[in-house]
Amino acid sequence: MAANLAPTVLLNTGFSMPRTGFGTWPLRGDDCASAVVSAIDAGYRSIDTAAAYHNEDGVGLGLKNSGLAREELFVTTKLRGQSQGGGRAREALLTSLDKLGLDYVDLYLIHWPNPSVDLYVEAYAELLELADEGLIRSVGVSNFKQEHLKKIVDATGIEPAVDQIQVSPTIGRKALVADIQRSSTVVVAWSPLERNSGVLQSPTLTTIADRLKVSTGQVALRWLVERDIVPIPHSGNPERQKQNADIFDFELSKSDMTAIDALDSDAEGELDSATHIEM
Ligand SMILES: NC(=O)c1ccc[n+]([C@@H]2O[C@H](COP(=O)([O-])OP(=O)(O)OC[C@H]3O[C@@H](n4cnc5c(N)ncnc54)[C@H](OP(=O)(O)O)[C@@H]3O)[C@@H](O)[C@H]2O)c1
Repeated sequence: MAANLAPTVLLNTGFSMPRTGFGTWPLRGDDCASAVVSAIDAGYRSIDTAAAYHNEDGVGLGLKNSGLAREELFVTTKLRGQSQGGGRAREALLTSLDKLGLDYVDLYLIHWPNPSVDLYVEAYAELLELADEGLIRSVGVSNFKQEHLKKIVDATGIEPAVDQIQVSPTIGRKALVADIQRSSTVVVAWSPLERNSGVLQSPTLTTIADRLKVSTGQVALRWLVERDIVPIPHSGNPERQKQNADIFDFELSKSDMTAIDALDSDAEGELDSATHIEM
C-alpha cells in the first residue's frame, strides 16, 4: 500500500475531501473493479463515478475488494438529468447506493444542469433533504456555470460543496474558476489530462517536466493543485495511476504557472455541449 496519501481540503459541509481523486469513466465491470483496487493501492482514497457511467457496480466491487474500511474512502456519484425533479432523486440515489454497496455517499453531484425547465433547482433542494437524512454527506454540482449556481443558491441559501467542471491546460476557465473560488464551493477538474489528446506532448509541459524529473501528466495535475483545483484523472494503467497520484512533493514556479496558463485557448470545452442530455 502506498504510504503517501493525498492531503485533504475541508468542504463547506464540514467533511474533508482528498485533494485528488480517481476517475472511473469509461471503465466497466471487472475491469473497473480491478482498476479501483489498483488505484486504491496507488494511494487514491477518493473515487469518482456516476449513474450515467453504468459502472457503479464495478466501483462497488472494487471498493469491497480493496479491503479498506468505509471511513477511509471518499466516494462520489452523480444524479442523471432524467432523475432531476418530481421527487425522482431519492430513488436514483437508493439505486446508486445499492450498486455501490454503500449506505451513504460522501459526495452526490447533479451531473449536468437541466436548463430547459430548471429541474436542477428542484433536484438540488431534494438532495439537501437526502443529506439531512444521512444518505449523502456533501451535496455538490457538476458542469454548473455562474447562472446555474446563482439559481440554486437563490432558491436554497446553500452553496454547493463542489462544482466539478472540465478544466485543463488548454481549457483554463479562469473566469468561472475565479467566480466559484470567491464562494465556499471547491472546484474539481474532470478530464484534467485532456484525455491525453496532445497537450501532454506540448513543449511547454515537456520542458517543465524534464527539469523537475516528473511526467507531463504530473505537471498538468500539479498546475491544477496549485490553483486550488482538485483533479480527478483516470487511468486504467497501474503505473500511470501511481504517477498521477504522486503530485504532492514537488512544486511549480511562478513562471511555470504563467507558461501553462498561456496554453489556455479560451475554449468553452464541453460545458455547452448537448452531451449532457444523456447524463
Ligand atoms: N462530471 C462530468 O461531466 C465528467 C465528464 C467527464 C469525465 N468525468 C470524470 O473525470 C474523470 C477523468 O476525466 P477523463 O477520463 O475524461 O480524462 P483524463 O483523466 O484527462 O484522461 C484519461 C486518459 O488519459 C490517459 N492517461 C492517464 N494518465 C496519463 C499520463 N500520466 N500520461 C499520459 N496519459 C495518461 C488515460 O489512458 P490510460 O488509461 O491508458 O492510462 C486515459 O485515456 C473521468 O474518469 C470521470 O470520472 C466527469
